[in-house]
Amino acid sequence: MAQLERAKFGSKIGVILATAGSAVGLGNVWRFPYMTGENGGAAFIFIYIGCVLLLGIPCMVSEFIIGRNARSNTARAYGKLSGGRPWTAVGYLGVLTGFLITGYYAVVSGWCLQYIYASLVGHLDGNPEYIREYFVSFSQNPVKPIVWTVLFLIITHLVIVRGVRGGIEKASKLMMPTLFILLLVIVVAACMLPGAGKGISFLFRPDLGKVDSDMFLGALGQSFYSLSIGMGCVCTYASYFSRHTNLAASAVQIGVIDCLVAILAGLMIFPAAFSVGISPDSGPSLIFITLPNVFQQAFSGMPAVGFVISLLFYVLLSLAALTSLISLHEVSTAFLHEECRITRRSSAVIVTSTCSVIGALCSLSLGRFDGLQLFGKPLFDVFDFVTGQIFLPIGGFLTCLFVGWYIPHRVVRDEYTNNGTLHGRFFHFYLFCVKYVCPVCIVLVFLHQFGII
Ligand code: PFF
Repeated sequence: MAQLERAKFGSKIGVILATAGSAVGLGNVWRFPYMTGENGGAAFIFIYIGCVLLLGIPCMVSEFIIGRNARSNTARAYGKLSGGRPWTAVGYLGVLTGFLITGYYAVVSGWCLQYIYASLVGHLDGNPEYIREYFVSFSQNPVKPIVWTVLFLIITHLVIVRGVRGGIEKASKLMMPTLFILLLVIVVAACMLPGAGKGISFLFRPDLGKVDSDMFLGALGQSFYSLSIGMGCVCTYASYFSRHTNLAASAVQIGVIDCLVAILAGLMIFPAAFSVGISPDSGPSLIFITLPNVFQQAFSGMPAVGFVISLLFYVLLSLAALTSLISLHEVSTAFLHEECRITRRSSAVIVTSTCSVIGALCSLSLGRFDGLQLFGKPLFDVFDFVTGQIFLPIGGFLTCLFVGWYIPHRVVRDEYTNNGTLHGRFFHFYLFCVKYVCPVCIVLVFLHQFGII
């Protein structure tokens, strides 16, 4: 009965854009370009693409298989496929990871909204020291970032309560093309700046001397995070796929879109930064301190263009964050709706309000609230670390074992080939990756980040 009522995406393009929307996020814009720059430009891009193909796409297909076969939220999906064995815990871990990330991801998303406002009213005009101070005092303010975080969650909520087709799919169909157009506009503007060529060649010049195990493992970790694997999102979305969706082809298309956006983000940031001789750094400071500076200096001769580019950049960032946050929110909403048997609207209200509290605590932990620390680190950093560096690899690793070794291959093949209606190209290669390559690589990344290897 519940199976018959389950929502579905209405079109193939809806499936691709919604799932690509989950993948394309803040990770593409602030992390990928920085890692590329640090790790030898084109050499890193090639290795990253290799990681997406060998690790990211097989893991994504595995989550697709679990989600679509079970047609239920992530926790129940693992339970259904395993007959209620301890594997169910892996599903619960996915839901928990998705839930915890929603809270702190919303904080950074809220900062993007503040920066749209700041660009509009000219708050970002000033010298580099002023721009740094502006970010520090804003992010440490006890009220303002929380207001933006809650606002962002409410916007996400409004999409979620409209359902899978009327909310998530419709919003993705609108937002993803807009995001692409904005990205292209900014890339063109950045590449036309005098001296931009240096940035472009920096990005695309392979520095083979930098290829080492650190770079390889960095690329692996990034491909995982960027494709939203191991957090229940991909599995939850796949539960809304139709029986005719070609899982492998969809995963490849989503992987290509995600890589393309990441490379375009590099083409947006490096030419502009090099044109004014600023070296792009990482994380929040790249987006909220370095880039406002870069935009201001690069377009100092044309302040109106600088104003528009800066504004468009933060709109783009907010859209990227929103499509990812929608997918994160949906993981917990679907879970509560189906497991606690409450309406989708009530589930969404619970998720929005609890994540607002988590977001508020994370935000306060960056300010002067020393009490909001765990292991000597602000709660914000703890959430980031625990979800991204611990839960995500564990979830991904166990998912590979589950699909590669536990579920009967017949079931995996039936999902992969849509019950024999597709040719099932690369099935054996896929299975080989999931059984051997992915688990080994994930263990290597996991051990490496703790300095064990
Ligand atoms: N893939 C998103 C990004 O690159 O920013 C982040 C993310 C979203 C990770 C959703 C995990 C997730 F479930």
